[in-house]
Amino acid sequence: MVQVAVMGHGVVGSGVVEVIMNHRDGIMKRSDAELNVKYILDIREFPDSPYADKFTKNFDDILNDDEVKVVAEVMGGVHPAYDFTKACLLAGKSVVTSNKELVATKGAELLQIAKDNNVNYLFEASVGGGIPIIRPISLCLAANEVIEVAGILNGTTNFILAKMIKDSMSFEDALKMAQQLGYAERNPAADVEGHDACRKICILASLCYGKHIYPEFVHTQGITKMTLADVAYAASWGGVVKLIGQVKKLDDGKLDITVEPMLIEKSSQLAGVDDVFNGILVRGDSTGDVVFYGKGAGKLPTASAVVADIIDCVKHLKERKFVFWEDGDGSLVKPYEKTEYPIYIRAEAEDKKAAAEKAAELFPDMKVIVRADAGENEFAFVTGSMKVADQEKTIAALEAAGVTVQSKIRIAADL
Ligand code: HSE
Repeated sequence: MVQVAVMGHGVVGSGVVEVIMNHRDGIMKRSDAELNVKYILDIREFPDSPYADKFTKNFDDILNDDEVKVVAEVMGGVHPAYDFTKACLLAGKSVVTSNKELVATKGAELLQIAKDNNVNYLFEASVGGGIPIIRPISLCLAANEVIEVAGILNGTTNFILAKMIKDSMSFEDALKMAQQLGYAERNPAADVEGHDACRKICILASLCYGKHIYPEFVHTQGITKMTLADVAYAASWGGVVKLIGQVKKLDDGKLDITVEPMLIEKSSQLAGVDDVFNGILVRGDSTGDVVFYGKGAGKLPTASAVVADIIDCVKHLKERKFVFWEDGDGSLVKPYEKTEYPIYIRAEAEDKKAAAEKAAELFPDMKVIVRADAGENEFAFVTGSMKVADQEKTIAALEAAGVTVQSKIRIAADL
């Protein structure tokens, strides 16, 4: 019997206990060991839980119990999850987690501590919920040089965008629905401002390129400014707006890494990824494109990935899985203003004809796009590829000519 502790009894934590208890026989067959949840750590009371006898509020009960070999940290947030994880690893316990914030901010340090103590720190559930992505990248695609990873990494924002696109639902109503369904973070700003997707692309980039990419190195923009007008122009251009986390290895060896809304063509494999689903495209030099698709959030999909990591730890109690990256200083990341890509612009001007002429002069590659029910003074266009610094200068010149730019969205030309 292998004793396990689960720290946190929220949406994911309660799912982890449920999956372990309901799948005991299958887990036993797959891990050749019987699992038992000995402790559940939470500061709240759960008197009606069928597992009421397992609850503790005292982390030391877990830390000091040598029978506990594997700990699932599903508390979320950095503190106290960081201190608890570190203490468990130092005490020779393997830790598995769905906590993307902790992996994205402290991953290199915790992986090093795990290595030094010959235990495992696994985090399959931290990216893509129930979708296998950490293991495929670190094992199945290990023979490839990863050229690019691009994904819809946040279920809540994808749900909101899908509701806006398909049902013309307001941003606020769609967010409320996502919260009720248990998809959103405790603080929904982490979803809608892009921070959650940023943490996930940081984890994938660190895994692919071997150096820790911290969230502060990554240009991050959410979907709060997205309007139904932009959604309509995207459709008339031949695509959809999605919040994409992307990392690309450039010819100079640097990484173009970003999280932002992007226009992607309808033919892209990511364009059909709707609702709470996530889709992650990994472009390998040998494999070409490989796409992973599934439920990126929610209780049981995420719990499934956490429990799979527990099983993996149980199968490797005396040896380490090789999931590792070194610390990083950001020198691998290309400064955002030096990256280049085409853009979509929506603008307004009193004299729309003169403004469109000015836009054509400033953006020689531009193509006008139209939509039904556009405002009298509104116009929109897409440009050729430009450096971000040049985009900003040219937009400033357009605004100096009396044009108000209301939206600027990146076009993902290669997805
Ligand atoms: N809030 C996250 C999402 C949960 O919506 O994708 C899963 O990480």
